[in-house]
Amino acid sequence: MGINILGTGCYLPEQKLTNDDFTRFVDTSDEWIRTRTGIKERRMAGWEPVWYMGSEAAKRAISKAGIAPEDIGLIIVASATGDFHTPSMSCVVQNETGAVNAAAFDMNAACSGFVYMLDTARRFLETDNSLRYVLVVAAEALSRFVDFSDRSSCILFGDGAAAVVIERSDKLYTSALGADGSGARLLYARSVNIAEEVKVEHEFDDGFPEKRLHKLYQDGREVYKFATKALPKAFHLAADKAGITPEDIDWFVPHQANVRIIETAAKNLGAPMDKFIVTLDHYGNTSSVSIPLALHESIEKGVIKRGQKLALIGFGAGLTYAGAIFEY
Ligand code: COA
Repeated sequence: MGINILGTGCYLPEQKLTNDDFTRFVDTSDEWIRTRTGIKERRMAGWEPVWYMGSEAAKRAISKAGIAPEDIGLIIVASATGDFHTPSMSCVVQNETGAVNAAAFDMNAACSGFVYMLDTARRFLETDNSLRYVLVVAAEALSRFVDFSDRSSCILFGDGAAAVVIERSDKLYTSALGADGSGARLLYARSVNIAEEVKVEHEFDDGFPEKRLHKLYQDGREVYKFATKALPKAFHLAADKAGITPEDIDWFVPHQANVRIIETAAKNLGAPMDKFIVTLDHYGNTSSVSIPLALHESIEKGVIKRGQKLALIGFGAGLTYAGAIFEY
């Protein structure tokens, strides 16, 4: 059983941060950022809570799908930078969208979150015949977590939200989800200061080097190495299940972290770069939002067309990786 994407939507905060803007507070340059990452600018949330961005993207996807919100049976939201520990953002989105009959829960698989959600949604559709539509939302405000004194990480990230509405179909679908928790300490942000409290009383060090709360820490070089292997791996794990090769794919929609990671992955897959959707130049790395945002933009521009085969491939903190191959 496959999925059919009925509608997509996005929300982008108006505020833009160019590479030159960063030169005001860290020792960097537009040239360095462009050549090392491919990023030129990114959006930055101002007054918007993350749930607001997610809800707006969701409303636009529902409107595009042309369905009544009451007919949505399930809402899944992915975010690594949500406003609340509880309630789940999906409950807030339910209230904002009027999807009163939907069950609602959140997922966190960091930048792989969208592919994890899509795959979970498909499984729900497969096992529950009463379920007609699923709303899948990704929303992030990385700018509230990045350490703006760390030049190697603060330049990478951006904010926004994207959503899709799906239903079941008979079209091609294959997927693979994976994780390697041994890399948990390579990319993270703390949510509570328990480590510090425990350390004082029990001399316990949890081994996560950054002790400050809500500050994104990353070992850029190690994450880079993981990412270049994870993207081809996510593709092959999914593709091999259905006898698919890179030649069969019309569009690869990879997680938008660094254009050099995408170029290396393309080379390792033996696929030409012009089959890879790249939007990171104007949005940076928006974590779980990057894949659905690239998908939405490419559909809106008529780049991705009905009947084409897509390979969504992601990686992220955790470390996680995920691939979903399906016909649009
Ligand atoms: N401007 C100028 N110089 C910078 C810089 C910046 N913004 N950031 C780092 N540098 C410097 C470093 O300090 C280092 O200087 P040194 O040689 O004097 O020590 C030099 O540039 C090279 O650093 P290096 O870490 O080797 O650069 P890199 O080419 O690996 O690029 C990243 C750094 C972070 C862009 C790259 O490692 C990366 O993209 N990693 C993956 C991160 C990622 O995708 N995270 C999210 C995953 S979901």
